[in-house]
Amino acid sequence: VHLFGPASAPGETTLEVRPGQSLMQAAVAGNVKGIEADCGGLLTCATCHVYVREPFASRLDLPTEDEMGMLEFTASPRRAGSRLSCQIRLTPELDGLAVDLPESQH
Ligand code: FES
Repeated sequence: VHLFGPASAPGETTLEVRPGQSLMQAAVAGNVKGIEADCGGLLTCATCHVYVREPFASRLDLPTEDEMGMLEFTASPRRAGSRLSCQIRLTPELDGLAVDLPESQH
């Protein structure tokens, strides 16, 4: 997966991931700055916000009602492609997944 930093901290991080991990878990394991994940994936913090690029955004399952609710609380503006990375399960179909990191998670 490829994670692109925001304007204040540009740069690309590429991670090798295991299918079945969440994107948040992979990012935390890879020490990616910009993914805080305060709640550890319990869907209560919204500090694992990412902007998923196309064509990948369209391949994801639609957000659950709980994820939709937490997306109201992201620190950076919500945009098309906004998702919580703890809810993105990495599968072979998402090979090459590219996401942009928000300016802030707090
Ligand atoms: Fe807290 Fe994703 S890690 S909502």
